[in-house]
Amino acid sequence: MYVTLKELLGHAEQEGYTVLAPNVFNLESLIAVVEAAEAEQAPVIIAIGESRLKDERLQKYLPVIARQIARETAVPVGINLDHGKSYHELVLAIQKEFSSVMIDASMCPYEENVTRTREIVKIAHELGISVEAEIGHVGMGEDYTENGVKDGLTEPEVAKRFAEETQVDALAVAVGTAHGVYKGTPKLDFERLEEIHKMVNVPLVLHGGSGTGMENLIKASRLGIRKLNINTELLIEAREQVRRELEENPGIDYSILLKHGKDAVVRTLRGYMQALGSSGKAWSKS
Ligand code: 13P
Repeated sequence: MYVTLKELLGHAEQEGYTVLAPNVFNLESLIAVVEAAEAEQAPVIIAIGESRLKDERLQKYLPVIARQIARETAVPVGINLDHGKSYHELVLAIQKEFSSVMIDASMCPYEENVTRTREIVKIAHELGISVEAEIGHVGMGEDYTENGVKDGLTEPEVAKRFAEETQVDALAVAVGTAHGVYKGTPKLDFERLEEIHKMVNVPLVLHGGSGTGMENLIKASRLGIRKLNINTELLIEAREQVRRELEENPGIDYSILLKHGKDAVVRTLRGYMQALGSSGKAWSKS
C-alpha cells in the first residue's frame, strides 16, 4: 500500500511511535525492508539517497521497482528521496512519483534554506507529494568529539519559524546524532528535543540512527521523533554476516551469500521496529 509521508507520520504522531526509514540501493536491500515490515506488520519508509541515483540504471529502475513493491505490499509503505540537494534530482523524484522528497539545504544560511525548501514544497504539494527538510545540520560521526557534536544543533525557536515559513510535512532536527560510525559515544540533547517537540507542529525526523544505541533511540521516540533514518548499521550487519558465511564456506554460491546479507538486514530492522513501536501498527485501506 503506497502512502505519503504525511499520512505515515500523521499516524505515528497520533499513536506515538517511530517509523523506520532504511536506505536501499539494490533489489536485496529493497526486499529486506519490505520483508521486515510485513513480518512486523509495520508501516515503513523506503529511503533512496540522491547519491545512489548517480548511477544511470539505478536512477532509471530503482524508483520504479520500489514503487511497484510498495503498491503490492500489504503494509503502508512510503518512498522518500533522501538528502535531495540538487534541484534537478528533487524535481525528477517528484516527477517519478516518490511519495515524498527530502530537500536538504541544511548547509545553507537560514534564508536560503527557507527559499529553496519553499520552492520544492510548492511543486511537491501541488502533486500530493510530501516534503521533509532539515534545520540545523546533522554532521558526520567521524567529526564527533568527546562532548558530542561541535555545532549545528537545532535551535527550537528557529525550528518553529522554519516549519511555519516553509509548510514542510516533516522536519529533520540536529539533537546530537551523526551520520555513519560515531567517533566516541553518542550524546543526545534530550532537553533540546523535548523543547523542539513542544514548539514545532510538524512530525520530527532523526537522521544518523546507526550506532546511536537503542536506549537513546527509544527515549528520542518518546520525546517526539516520528521517523528514524538508518543506513550504516544495516550495511555493517550485512557485511559481517557475509564475512562469517564466507569464512565457514569459502566456495559458497554468491546468490546465497547475498541472501544471508539480506536476512541480516531483516533481523536488524525487525529489532528496531519492535523497539521503536512501529510493529503491529500497519493499517489497511478503509
Ligand atoms: P546512518 O548511516 O548513520 O544510519 O544515517 C542514515 C541517515 O541518516 C540517512 O539519511
